[in-house]
Amino acid sequence: MSSTLSAESVPIRPYTVRFLPSGAAAAAGKDETLLAVARRAGLVVDAPCGGEGTCGKCVVRVPPTARSGLRVEDDGVLSADDVREGLALSCQTVVAGDVEVFIPNADTGVGMRILTDGYTGEVHLDPHIRKRYHADAHATLVYAGDDIIGNESGDTTREVYAAAVDIGTTTLVASLLDLSRGAVVATESSLNPQALHAQDVLSRIKTGSTDQGLAFLHGMLRDEINALLSRLATSSGVRLYRVYEVALSGNTCMLHLATGAPTASLGKYPYTPAIRGGHSLPATDVGLRIAPFGQVYLPPIIGPYVGADITSGILVTQLERRPGVVLFVDIGTNGEIVLSDNGRLLAASTAAGPAFEGMNIRHGMRAGPGAVERFRIATDLTIHAVTIGGQPASGICGSGLVDIVAELVRVGIVAPNGRMARPTTLGVPALEDRLLLLDGKPAFRVAKAIYLTQSDVRHVQFAKGALRAGIELLLKHAGRAADQVDEVIIAGSFGYHLQVDSLARLGLLPAVLSDRVRFVGNTSRTGAEAFLLNTKARHHIHELVARVNVVELADDARFQAVFVQSMGFGQAS
Ligand code: FES
Repeated sequence: MSSTLSAESVPIRPYTVRFLPSGAAAAAGKDETLLAVARRAGLVVDAPCGGEGTCGKCVVRVPPTARSGLRVEDDGVLSADDVREGLALSCQTVVAGDVEVFIPNADTGVGMRILTDGYTGEVHLDPHIRKRYHADAHATLVYAGDDIIGNESGDTTREVYAAAVDIGTTTLVASLLDLSRGAVVATESSLNPQALHAQDVLSRIKTGSTDQGLAFLHGMLRDEINALLSRLATSSGVRLYRVYEVALSGNTCMLHLATGAPTASLGKYPYTPAIRGGHSLPATDVGLRIAPFGQVYLPPIIGPYVGADITSGILVTQLERRPGVVLFVDIGTNGEIVLSDNGRLLAASTAAGPAFEGMNIRHGMRAGPGAVERFRIATDLTIHAVTIGGQPASGICGSGLVDIVAELVRVGIVAPNGRMARPTTLGVPALEDRLLLLDGKPAFRVAKAIYLTQSDVRHVQFAKGALRAGIELLLKHAGRAADQVDEVIIAGSFGYHLQVDSLARLGLLPAVLSDRVRFVGNTSRTGAEAFLLNTKARHHIHELVARVNVVELADDARFQAVFVQSMGFGQAS
């Protein structure tokens, strides 16, 4: 039966909106919000409140010439200074004509820095997928562990591949492995397309709690992983039907969304995951286009907020085999911490909030071009702000934020209790002209039109306090003092770009540990590779994860006191 489109089903979009500085453009319907149009133009806009008009992050700058083409709601979230500067919330601004607006906190993902490298350790080559040629039948059998999963005509033993995919909340990183040699033959990365619609984990849990939302989020992730697999195949010359397994690693929510498992239970007490990982699925069930009988492996999940990415990190760093007391820390919106005390593992997650990802920070942004990523105040008090790509500063990313606050603590602009000096109270003329009041509150000019405000410092304090409190309580649960920790392993993209002295100055880690820190990068991906390369690793880690003692910090009566104590800045903390 042929179908016809009714006039109502075709959206009418009479206007064009162009977003600067990227130049991305999209057609807009009457009364559509700028946020919706920006997303259609492929821009990733920080919108943690999901367009409710409460978070204040989705700002656009409206030039006077564009005012007639827009209807701006006065929401009361932006300050009077911001409104005077022409700022408006894109989620509360509707289109009424052709316009050009500046959207500073958005990017297309192009040029975004995605950390693909990570510590690989030593993995004995004993892959889960193997092939055996049977000359009598002139056929090759494909095994997954001890099971025969496929039968190919002729001798195909030289072509045996698998892919590892790290599914981050913001980015995806995939690698293709030649299992006959244990070598990585190609690596690709991209933005997680879900970030266009819901940036943080909590809003994705909410969206994935309905059948429709789950199908939407799963579908876009599946398509992006398939696109990455195609790119891996193209760049390496490998045929996708010779890829027999994909290992997916990521936080608990991402693993649910990648496999189409409902996320509702992750959003309400007792936060029980619908899947626990540690098993394989047919690739066709997940919708991945590899060999028709190919499989998808999910590493075991430790808990609702300590995911398979941490399992992968434990595996590849051989955490439980390291001598002494070792802290494994992944700093993100959830700080995930694992303590190994001579092989006994304790894990916890702590809600650090998104400050370290540049969110809820006045000029915060992700690690893309123009983000201040390094910051120093030299002995002659000159300021050195380094941006990604050497471009004019357009915001501050997580590592820059840590550097800036650490330096301001060092020179006394931020006191150990987090209070910022007010203009003219500092007594240091060289820095005095960078201090000002924004909406009556102290702020520091980091670069042209880029400020760090008192409220930003408070957000950093909360994030730092939560993470440090998690570390302190985990140590207490293990009956250990900080100076008994032999090694600190920091995983993840954010951690990779941090400077140890800034971490110490902020008091994010106990000062005594600053010379014991090691950065290992993206161990979620390299751990996923290890699962592909060594089948015994799966049995081993399955048993190990079952023995991890997950400490619920929220249930610990000491948490609040330790958290408040941990909010102070400085070396002595
Ligand atoms: S998305 Fe939060 S205020 Fe617009």
